[in-house]
Amino acid sequence: MDTYLLAGRPVHRIGFGAMQLPGPGVMGPPRDRDEAVAVLRRAVELGVDHIDTAQYYGPDIANELIHEALHPYPEGLVLVSKVGAVRDEKGGWPAAQRPEQLRAGVEDNLRSLGVERLGAVNLRLLDHPSDDPAQSVPLEDQLGEMVALREEGKIAGVGISNASLEQVETAIELAGLVCVQNAFSLVDQHDTPVLDRCADAGIPYVPFFPLGSAFPGMPKVTDDPAVRTVAERLDATAAQVGLAWLLAHRDNVLLIPGTSRVAHLEQNLAAGDLRLSEEDLAELSAGR
Ligand SMILES: NC(=O)c1ccc[n+]([C@@H]2O[C@H](COP(=O)([O-])OP(=O)(O)OC[C@H]3O[C@@H](n4cnc5c(N)ncnc54)[C@H](OP(=O)(O)O)[C@@H]3O)[C@@H](O)[C@H]2O)c1
Repeated sequence: MDTYLLAGRPVHRIGFGAMQLPGPGVMGPPRDRDEAVAVLRRAVELGVDHIDTAQYYGPDIANELIHEALHPYPEGLVLVSKVGAVRDEKGGWPAAQRPEQLRAGVEDNLRSLGVERLGAVNLRLLDHPSDDPAQSVPLEDQLGEMVALREEGKIAGVGISNASLEQVETAIELAGLVCVQNAFSLVDQHDTPVLDRCADAGIPYVPFFPLGSAFPGMPKVTDDPAVRTVAERLDATAAQVGLAWLLAHRDNVLLIPGTSRVAHLEQNLAAGDLRLSEEDLAELSAGR
């Protein structure tokens, strides 16, 4: 499988996202704890060297599973986390964007993952302005704290997530981004300007929801008629076609598909071997 540099380290283009490991709604224990541990071990066995996580997945659960399954970590494994939110008891995702909260988020990740330094940390920006005035923190102040954490050696690189093109530009200038994590898939390409900007600058672009989204009511790549037709022709699964399309789309795309099932993990990693022809790509792009 090809590699791309992430915070100065080469990683395979298909990694793993840990958000599907906790229970429903990314809260509480997994549906099947043994399988969650098995997914992580199998991922590394099959060459995954880039795992995306967050303290707020569970909360705590995803990181505890990663530690249980993989610590002591293999040489070369890049653990990437994110800060900027916490969880409330109802499963909500309140903002935690104040500099001291970003710092506490990084410290929590270091402790739960059992590492002295994180491979990269994404500053996860809000979906909507917070009702809480204490959470309207200027981007410059948030980036300043992330840079301080990098200078202290707690994180190897600063990334940004859920960011507009303007915010990405600011972050490149003030923090020297090592990755951008935004929503992007074959069925949701609105973030193309950010993807292109990252491609030009050689910054890894790590799409979340690469298959659409597991959250209810959002379109799924695996339901798309063109994806299903191409998958049938290639004797592949629809998920594999959606992932292979992302890999073919831009060289700087690093994938972190999430799954709680070993069978899906194996399928997703095998997407790295699927080659889409010009005809396949044209058929997948038609009408979008
Ligand atoms: N920065 C952010 O704001 C943000 C937001 C969301 C996610 N993320 C990160 O991005 C990662 C990727 O997102 P995600 O993939 O978890 O998003 P997702 O779309 O929410 O989850 C993937 C969904 O696809 C299913 N799936 C996975 N592989 C499949 C396959 N081969 N065939 C059929 N269904 C399959 C999973 O179910 P099964 O468990 O049944 O396989 C799950 O329902 C996350 O794990 C997380 O690390 C970041």
